[in-house]
Amino acid sequence: MGPGPSDVHPRVLRAMSTPLVGHLDPSFVEIMDEVQELLRYAFRTDNEWTIPVSGTGSASMEAAIGNLVEPGDTVLVPTNGYFGGRMASMAERAGGEVVHVDAPWGEPLDPADVEAAFAEYQPDVFGFVHAETSTGVRQPDVPELTSIAHEHDAYVIADCVTSLGGVELRVDEWDVDVAYSGPQKCLSCPPGASPLTLNDRAMEKVLDREEPARSWYLDLSLLEGYWSDERAYHHTAPITNVYALREALRLVAEEGIEQRWARHRRVAAALKESLSAMGLALNPDEAHWLPSLNAMEVPAGVDDGAVCEYLLDRYDLEIATGLGDLDGEIFRIGCMGHSARPANVTLLVPALAEALAAQDADIDPDAGLSVLRERLGEV
Ligand SMILES: Cc1ncc(COP(=O)(O)O)c(C=O)c1O
Repeated sequence: MGPGPSDVHPRVLRAMSTPLVGHLDPSFVEIMDEVQELLRYAFRTDNEWTIPVSGTGSASMEAAIGNLVEPGDTVLVPTNGYFGGRMASMAERAGGEVVHVDAPWGEPLDPADVEAAFAEYQPDVFGFVHAETSTGVRQPDVPELTSIAHEHDAYVIADCVTSLGGVELRVDEWDVDVAYSGPQKCLSCPPGASPLTLNDRAMEKVLDREEPARSWYLDLSLLEGYWSDERAYHHTAPITNVYALREALRLVAEEGIEQRWARHRRVAAALKESLSAMGLALNPDEAHWLPSLNAMEVPAGVDDGAVCEYLLDRYDLEIATGLGDLDGEIFRIGCMGHSARPANVTLLVPALAEALAAQDADIDPDAGLSVLRERLGEV
């Protein structure tokens, strides 16, 4: 129940013990096709350029930024969380000139501020974080943000690491040019092969670059040879992670993507409402609440690190403290993929109440538990 990795589904663990075949074996090539098709389903896109990138979420992130951003491009990134900062570092390393659109940690971007930043800087690329794992904020108004960018002929990159497979995300309908993710959050798959999708417009920019991308390993114009019909060797694919991702994505398809988004909302709402009935304050507003990562304020006088240790020692249960500007201010409670289950919330709520009571926090555990019973009855 931390910010990821989430619990891996047993079917995914089993898939990882499948004997290895070569990365160009005809049976593996079929699996690659299947993974690409299932990724398109999860991203809600028809983009041909939809692949798992070898490596963790930062690899798909760097593949997106390092290929789309060319030296001299102006890149607009947000300041409202830890991962917007990582976007800025990657864009700088790619040779981009980084400019910022500001919002405090714990708040989403305001489209009016994005519009003003476009008027001031005329960026070539605009990156934003759809689901900010450091703050528990879901960026609403995505179609509005992409239309501002497109009116200015810019490209949009969305960080969907903590949203893909758990929170409503519609790449094509929302007109996102490039979206990347990680498998270890709402897909409940071990890290190692990370989803990436680019539309034709973005891929044209990548293929028309004057200078090659600075990373050979993540150069999409080279990876194209392996993931297109050519199936030419570039590097050895992480076979076992691709097996795992296929199984995780099959689970998404079996459940149905919209049903899966709804499950995350139902289970996380039961968690959120029982915590707030207990007297604990939730950090972001309902309008930009992120069901997969619930940010809860640390009550006055409570040592946040000691609460996390208590839960881990006594209940084998992980939640996390805040990061960066919200360090010491919030707990981060994940509700992702296979971990977004009533049984997990039923374990967490009384355990957290006990951990807080051990530090004399002013909370009402009974009120929380009675809301939990009511709400889980509806799940
Ligand atoms: C929003 C966001 N972006 C990017 C990343 C980077 O992913 P990874 O740690 O798998 O490299 C993370 C990881 O937690 C994340 O939460």
